[in-house]
Amino acid sequence: MPRITYIEHGGQSRVIDVPVGHTVMEGGRDAGIEGIVAECGGACACSTCHVYVDPDWFDRLPPRESMEEDMLDFAPGMDPDRSRLGCQLRVTPDFDGLVVTVPEEQA
Ligand code: FES
Repeated sequence: MPRITYIEHGGQSRVIDVPVGHTVMEGGRDAGIEGIVAECGGACACSTCHVYVDPDWFDRLPPRESMEEDMLDFAPGMDPDRSRLGCQLRVTPDFDGLVVTVPEEQA
């Protein structure tokens, strides 16, 4: 099972086994990672699953689609070089070793 490292805003990091087919948001939310709010439940309609992807990983992930781009505009601290919505990142075996950081605040 892919192992993803989630770094909470306070600096605490946890490595979570996230099943293939789940999303990065679901993996963090279900493990109780602080700051992954996911108000809309993964419908790409809230931006409260915003995470920063480790720079080494950004180009290895599927690109953002336009809906994700639009919602990220509402995310506080959005960084075009590393921001993603966790609910739009569906985990495959290739995600093993991914590192994401939760921002200071969600919308
Ligand atoms: Fe709402 Fe991701 S959970 S946009």
